[in-house]
Amino acid sequence: MDENKIPLVSSMRQNYRRGRLRREDLMDSPVAQFTAWLNEAVAAQVLEPNAMALATASAQGRPSCRTVLLKQYSEQGFLFFTNLKSRKADELKENPYAMAVFFWDVLERQVSIEGKVERVSDAEADTYFTTRPRASQIASWASPQGNILPSREILDQAFNQAALHYQDQPIPRPPFWGGYRLIPNRFEFWQGGLDRLHDRFQYLLDNQNAWEIERVAP
Ligand SMILES: Cc1cc2nc3c(=O)[nH]c(=O)nc-3n(C[C@H](O)[C@H](O)[C@H](O)COP(=O)(O)O)c2cc1C
Repeated sequence: MDENKIPLVSSMRQNYRRGRLRREDLMDSPVAQFTAWLNEAVAAQVLEPNAMALATASAQGRPSCRTVLLKQYSEQGFLFFTNLKSRKADELKENPYAMAVFFWDVLERQVSIEGKVERVSDAEADTYFTTRPRASQIASWASPQGNILPSREILDQAFNQAALHYQDQPIPRPPFWGGYRLIPNRFEFWQGGLDRLHDRFQYLLDNQNAWEIERVAP
């Protein structure tokens, strides 16, 4: 193949060879299963193993999707932080359901988590905000996420102004910045397989609040 020639997307394909996923490989708790796979993604040096595509939708059912970072998780839910005036925040206000997808390419794995979303408390948002690097804290004051910017300079100026304003002081959390907790009712663990015969298992919350595990066709 000519080295300078970019292949057509229609001819790009991988045969997944890393392994099989069997029912007996799965833990009873989807959160424990997620931890096991996340640890393997970290060990495999996935660049941003905690990055997830987050889909939300408007009240009219128009979807939108973007990447955010998972910042905490437990049996109680999966947390991410963002601007509370962003498109995703607007959509979550009118339609509190979301789905997050992790794709760990070197492991040929995908995990999806869907459920209801609620705002984390101001105290939880404060606690996480204090752990952010100072420049990121300043940036959250400076950026009206999603607004049209007439120029890059305006953003840089807003950053410099905020930096000056809080010089030698701790930076408080902006009131328009906070976190959300995705409370799952379904997980799916996907392992790429040979010849498109992938392994998929879903964990679905039943009416006893127990996780039911089932294999799903690829
Ligand atoms: C790897 C990666 C991580 C990101 N993490 C976050 C995040 O944790 N929070 C956030 O608000 N935006 C994050 N972003 C930016 C979002 O993808 C998005 O541009 C922004 O949140 C605005 O989305 P919205 O207009 O749909 O609300 C990240 C982008 C990338 C590529």
